[in-house]
Amino acid sequence: MSLDQRDYWDGEAERFDDEPDHGLGEPTTREAWRALLASQLPEPPSDVVDLGCGTGTLSLLLAEAGHRVRGLDLAPRMIERARTKATEAGLEVEFVVGDAAAPAYPLGSADVVLCRHVLWALPDPATALARWAALLRPGGRLLLVEGRWHTGAGLTAADTERLAATVGADVRVLPMTDDVYWGGPITDERYLVCARVN
Ligand SMILES: C[S@@+](CC[C@H](N)C(=O)[O-])C[C@H]1O[C@@H](n2cnc3c(N)ncnc32)[C@H](O)[C@@H]1O
Repeated sequence: MSLDQRDYWDGEAERFDDEPDHGLGEPTTREAWRALLASQLPEPPSDVVDLGCGTGTLSLLLAEAGHRVRGLDLAPRMIERARTKATEAGLEVEFVVGDAAAPAYPLGSADVVLCRHVLWALPDPATALARWAALLRPGGRLLLVEGRWHTGAGLTAADTERLAATVGADVRVLPMTDDVYWGGPITDERYLVCARVN
């Protein structure tokens, strides 16, 4: 993890939730994400780890649904925001500052590893994924929300599918083309990749 990246994301923390898909402030957007994740997670309660959790929006959505969630992010200000949001919502989520590339959680302690819009930016995504897979119990699930954005940055669905197949089975790509997830029309590739691990 680089200090530049940490400073960049610290600087984004205050306004991060202003984007519809970040803050999920719009009820229809929030409901779409809730339903999508519920369709891929085990029945609550399960143990979920949210890597690069940002301001904790998805962590809190899942805690609200009854899951036991831990969230980790490299930017201390993102984690501050996440903790404040948890307190305001009366939800218990363990948020810590850390590196998603090498998360210091006990091996085999999670049923789900969730990561939205972070894998693509890691220096060695394949090694990170192998570490994430080791956090999962047998039958655990890997949920990767990624995209190949109009800027040219990101991972194609085929890239992420290939990466997920190195650590898991039953790899599926769910295209996320519906405007409802993003607060407006999109012109680029966005998707969720799910895999079963161990
Ligand atoms: C686009 S935001 C996504 C935040 C959150 N996953 C979401 O979807 O709302 C990217 C986040 O990843 C975090 N991040 C980037 N590299 C990271 C790393 N190596 N370890 C932990 N967090 C990282 C940033 O601090 C930022 O909060």
